[in-house]
Amino acid sequence: MDKPLEPFRIKAVEPIQFPSREQREAVLHNAGFNLFNIPAEAVFIDLLTDSGTSAMSDHQWAGLMLGDESYAQCRNFFHLQETVQEVMGFPIVIPTHQGRAAEHLLFQTLVKPGDVVPNNIHFDTTRANVEFRQAVALDCAIDETFDPDKEHPFKGNMDPAKLRAAIETHGVEKIPLVMLTITNNSGGGQPVSMANVREIAGICRQHGLPLFLDAARFAENCYFIKQREPAYRDKSIAEIARELFSLADGCTMSAKKDALVNIGGFIALRDEALAGRIRNFLILMEGFPTYGGLAGRDLETMARGLREVLDERYLEYRIGQVRYLGNLLETAGIPVLKPFGGHAVYLNALPFAPHLPRAQFPGQAVAVALYREGAVRSVEIGSLMFARHKPGSEAWEFPRLELVRLAIPRRVYTTSHLDFVAETVYKIWQNRQQLRGLRLVYEPPFLRHFTARLEELDVA
Ligand code: F0G
Repeated sequence: MDKPLEPFRIKAVEPIQFPSREQREAVLHNAGFNLFNIPAEAVFIDLLTDSGTSAMSDHQWAGLMLGDESYAQCRNFFHLQETVQEVMGFPIVIPTHQGRAAEHLLFQTLVKPGDVVPNNIHFDTTRANVEFRQAVALDCAIDETFDPDKEHPFKGNMDPAKLRAAIETHGVEKIPLVMLTITNNSGGGQPVSMANVREIAGICRQHGLPLFLDAARFAENCYFIKQREPAYRDKSIAEIARELFSLADGCTMSAKKDALVNIGGFIALRDEALAGRIRNFLILMEGFPTYGGLAGRDLETMARGLREVLDERYLEYRIGQVRYLGNLLETAGIPVLKPFGGHAVYLNALPFAPHLPRAQFPGQAVAVALYREGAVRSVEIGSLMFARHKPGSEAWEFPRLELVRLAIPRRVYTTSHLDFVAETVYKIWQNRQQLRGLRLVYEPPFLRHFTARLEELDVA
């Protein structure tokens, strides 16, 4: 199988432990079967997220020492601004401590109760931030997104007909902005094509609606465009990124992904009047407009990461790791979401655990088993994350997909680690009839999956 070739060598290492079976069992019980509650030191391979988990380069670490910690107008802000202008083409950058702060500020400024925000699929924090404004987060992804077996080169695309229908139904005055998440995390880390961004941007322009990209994984998206959209085969990632962003009015960015840092984010945009309104909230909640909740050194590593991520050899290795793990699993007959996305392999939990009803959280059952078997931490993206109680009833409304995400941190794990993960998944696949359903014992009012507690049900 073609192995991903690391375009770097290792300069510092961090030991990881493999807890005993008894320890893993105790950890699961103490965590209320919620993997967010598991101490990180009790995890062998942590595939919970690719967010904030990147290994920084020596160039980024060196940049830490060049942090200018002045309260106002530190030099690293200017470096970040210049980098965003060059990489994305947006003249204005407003730093925030991470992506969801950017979302919160943007929606606080633009979204009113009763509004509707279309997106291909809102990521969970984006959805929660829209709903927190008492607005509707409307998913308009193409139908193929929701079919886990369907091959489509740009399964992250938005359906232009669904966007037009939303505009028709709700009226432009109810739609403060349109968003596109690149890559589409909740739909499997799937890319959006340049043609689709262009078409959606055209519809937005026609109706005077601002288009914002959720750019957390923009470089991975650009790599897929280069691979799969023939017109871009000979363009550099930097050129593709510039063209992509030129179609939008702004973006929210979780720099914890494709800026290769452990913390950070920003809003980038063109409209100075809107930026002024956002900055008023920024000062209230995040900090002065040139640091936005970050230290000068964080701004510096972010600026450096934004350029590093455009390296095509890095992206080839990065996407190659995801494909390598995906291929190992698929070859073993394990149900995985196809095609493989940019940052994670997604197990399809419904065929994995057909004996478990949705209300018993089959995806979470698989995630729990992965930890129990190999101290591998993953995350459920299914009913635990998204199922809602139907209004005025105990009955559930389930999301269409029930997935377990194996997110691969950037530049962190080796091919042997990925082999180990594949073997762990294979072991639980072989014993899948043993997978146990779960029941909620504590449920917070929103973003349930982060703090919920569950208990295991007996095998039927
Ligand atoms: N948008 C997307 C597409 C994301 O995947 C995330 C975070 C955010 C926004 C929010 O950014 O974490 O910096 O506040 N995704 C992480 C994940 C948490 O695991 O997929 P944040």
